[in-house]
Amino acid sequence: MTTGNDSKQRGFWNSRFGFILAASGSAVGLGNIWKFPYIVGENGGGAFVLIYILCTIAVGLPIMLAEFTIGRKTNLNPVGAFQTLKPNSYWVGIGYMGVLAGFFILSFYGVVGGWTLAYVFKSFTQAISNFASPQEAGQFFDSFIANTWESLFYHALFMGVCVGIVLRGVHSGIERACEILMPTLVIFLILLMFRSLTLPGAMEGVEFYLKPDFSKIGPQTILIALGQAFFSLSLGMGCMLTYGSYLPEDENLTSATVYVVIFDTMIALLVGMVIFPAVFAMGLEPAEGPSLVFSVLPAVFVGIPFGNFISIVFFILLAIAAITSGISLLEVVSAYFIDQRGWSRKKAVVITSTIIFVFGIPSALSFGVLSDAKLFGMNFFDHIDNIASNYLLPLGGMLTAIFVGWVWGTKSAEEEIEKHETIFHWGHIWGFLIRYISPVAVLLVFLAKFFP
Ligand code: TRP
Repeated sequence: MTTGNDSKQRGFWNSRFGFILAASGSAVGLGNIWKFPYIVGENGGGAFVLIYILCTIAVGLPIMLAEFTIGRKTNLNPVGAFQTLKPNSYWVGIGYMGVLAGFFILSFYGVVGGWTLAYVFKSFTQAISNFASPQEAGQFFDSFIANTWESLFYHALFMGVCVGIVLRGVHSGIERACEILMPTLVIFLILLMFRSLTLPGAMEGVEFYLKPDFSKIGPQTILIALGQAFFSLSLGMGCMLTYGSYLPEDENLTSATVYVVIFDTMIALLVGMVIFPAVFAMGLEPAEGPSLVFSVLPAVFVGIPFGNFISIVFFILLAIAAITSGISLLEVVSAYFIDQRGWSRKKAVVITSTIIFVFGIPSALSFGVLSDAKLFGMNFFDHIDNIASNYLLPLGGMLTAIFVGWVWGTKSAEEEIEKHETIFHWGHIWGFLIRYISPVAVLLVFLAKFFP
């Protein structure tokens, strides 16, 4: 393990605000804008949203604080962090599992990230601004992602952009990229929400989205809601841990956690209010799957003044949101090789991203030449997403909670939290959540899933 050149290779955040923005940048991404609406659509609407919110508060929030705390305490990547707190124990496995999950997630995340870049270019050339019907927009998208060379090209482009930013290190690259995006994104989503809500027939969508129908909920749906909470908050694989490791000690961890969770959840909920009214107003199917956002939004843009311009800006924002998340995934995998193996930042970033890209190729082709290569009804892309999001992340999160609650101990954690900040008023509640609620909730969901 190297420590000598660490601070130079690793770097620190510039400011407190920069950290919150960067952590929000990691959290807010395709998970909120692309994934959230389509899985809400597939899992019956309102009731799923409610369970998702519950998972976020009871499980996600305490675990995020735990990850920030471990990160700031150790100033290391996930493997190094657990190795420092419990040397040579099985707990270090959480770190390795995290690095592996980061590898898996980025491999398919990069594919969807590529789709967003493609839609930026396609907005510029007006290729996606003249659809006669929403169905036509859907068909256009389907044939685009089925095209081998186009999907691979944009996939590679997305990875290249992430590499370019992560190479520049934490604050000049990552922090700056996040500072402009977040506020603009919120303003745009609010404007789009008004547009969707005023479409004729929109209220049916609002009802689907907000009115819970619990008959549609089973163990599988709860597992998906939990997995989505982890995915959306970038938890369960040491990503927030790694971001916390770049924090100077005078950061108030609890308030940062609350800001990031609220911000991330707010954006997801807002996106739902944009998508579902439009879906129903246009007579589309909410259970459309991964193509949902890409077929609904272009159709929404067609009917509005300056639609083409709005479409350009929106897809740029979406691409940036994807990039600020993609870089956090790449950062985790690279930080492991930088800290633990003593690689230079350049070597770590270039080599890991290349391997991740290659591993992602079958995911990129899952909607075209490999679309018939299905196992248990799911293609390669779905399997990698499912393994990482619904198993590795909740498992990693549960083990992190158990580690902080029972092994490292909430006492030591609270000491770290209270460093350079006022007393941690919520300490008791947090201790209770992290020791009992978070691990037991995840465990129950797993049990219900495997022993129905
Ligand atoms: N949270 C991001 C999103 O919603 C994706 C992401 C970034 C992520 N880093 C992560 C997901 C770490 C899980 C773990 O798009």
